Amino acid sequence: MWSFIGLVLGFVHVAFAIVYLYLTWHHNYWKKRGIVTAKPFTILGTYPGVLGWGKRGLVLDVQEVYNKYKGKHRAVGTFLTREPQLLILDPALAHEILVTNFNNFRDTITSGFVGHNEDDKYVARNPFFSSGDTWKKRRTEGGGGLTANRLKLGYAIWQESGQRLLKYMEKAIAEKGNIIETRDLSYRFMANTMADFIWGIDAGSLTCKVQEQCEFQKVSTAWAFIAFQSITKFNRSLVAPFMRKLLQMRLFSKETDAFYLQLTQQAVKLRQNGNGSNRADYLSHLIQLQQKGNIMDDSVGHALTVLMDGYETSGAVLYHLLYSLSEYHEVQEKLRTEILDALGDDKSISYEELIALPYLDQCVNESLRLTTPIGFLMKICTRPTQIDVGNDKTLNLEPGVSVLIPAFQFHHDESLYPQADEFKPERFGNEPATEFTKRGMLLPFGDGPRICLGMRVGQLNVKTAVVQILSQYKIRQTKKLSMSSDSGLGLFLDGDIELEYIKL
Ligand code: HEM
Repeated sequence: MWSFIGLVLGFVHVAFAIVYLYLTWHHNYWKKRGIVTAKPFTILGTYPGVLGWGKRGLVLDVQEVYNKYKGKHRAVGTFLTREPQLLILDPALAHEILVTNFNNFRDTITSGFVGHNEDDKYVARNPFFSSGDTWKKRRTEGGGGLTANRLKLGYAIWQESGQRLLKYMEKAIAEKGNIIETRDLSYRFMANTMADFIWGIDAGSLTCKVQEQCEFQKVSTAWAFIAFQSITKFNRSLVAPFMRKLLQMRLFSKETDAFYLQLTQQAVKLRQNGNGSNRADYLSHLIQLQQKGNIMDDSVGHALTVLMDGYETSGAVLYHLLYSLSEYHEVQEKLRTEILDALGDDKSISYEELIALPYLDQCVNESLRLTTPIGFLMKICTRPTQIDVGNDKTLNLEPGVSVLIPAFQFHHDESLYPQADEFKPERFGNEPATEFTKRGMLLPFGDGPRICLGMRVGQLNVKTAVVQILSQYKIRQTKKLSMSSDSGLGLFLDGDIELEYIKL
């Protein structure tokens, strides 16, 4: 009996020792290379939030390390769970990694999130989750339908969507009063615009009854929720990546895959039967790609790439901007004056005018800085690279090691942006935002060859809605909200965003 208990205890000890060794195996990695190390928690790495430990997510964990080491070093050694990762503390070094030295940092951590489940075939077509030459092919294919020229040709979609948004708001105010929950309003607008642009359909999100959810929006909300939850799960699996294959982990669910496949098949069929054949939308681009050999799965994959951020991320940017405008009345008035001048008597604005409105552009950039919906960029070193980490030290970074560029932290750094927590579009008044990006300190869309592929679409989405709303309504805040809900990707407004819309 005693010998059996002894055996079990011995086994438990050995098992613990193996797990401990596995989790701490690399802990001397940075020390051996003479790099200052942010001390990791024994089994959780530097950022317990990434494993769902404690109440904070990754963004706030990174903030703590950033605050401790910034200004003293250009980069600091950390551990993403058990793997060594370099945290970049100097925006100029971030620029080197993203732009100047891009060929040495071509891949991203998210490239490792696909390929574990054969059925997860649509997300595998998204450049955000691709690596190497596949990434380049997907980016070139998908990006062809998002050029400035194509958006200009399809601009009528945004104009029409803007009109529908105003009609929906009128109906909502007549039936329910002046206070409109603005997260819902923003997603309704994005669902309508993206469904029209991608599939050439009326999603019904602005033409349905007030507060009613159409099927497209219901499915898209559930789909985006599952996708973002899966990203969190994949982040957690960084501790044991072999589990991904074992558990057949996937990002999109079977049910939503079936919905979007059917939607794309029907939309292609309708278009091939002549319905809307003169439209310059994303569907026409997908059909052109099919004529060059793309299969239906490619089309669904590209469509969902545009939907992912055209719906979810653009929606988040819009409601944060409207919330800031409701708080900063002077900014709102100044922006309205610019918009009303541009709209003129015929109340219309061309694509070029809309994109070029200077103060609107400043407001969007300032809102993106404050919110930073994708709070960090994780790149993987793909070729041996020498990095000047400051204090006369050079690091020979090996392929396979990842770096974290803390966009959110740069955007909230008082030494880069005085009064960083204030919404001050005037920051971008003296020089264009692109100059801030070149210095590596403004990265809401990333930078370099992997810069956000849908940046123009995202900006067009947000700018269209703001121009329409401000041309008709004054926005007032009804209650102050906190920014406490850390999704693991960024910080977002907590709770219902009930803003008051008063007709001008
Ligand atoms: C305003 C809303 C948006 C924000 C803030 C945003 C932000 C970002 C960021 C930070 C990245 C990572 C860049 C990097 O790794 O260096 C990214 C990548 C990407 N975004 Fe967006 N995005 C937005 C809208 C969109 C839209 C509307 C689309 C689709 C039309 C889109 C498609 C993509 C794709 C495909 C990538 C991966 C690019 C690559 O790896 O080559 N995004 N975005």
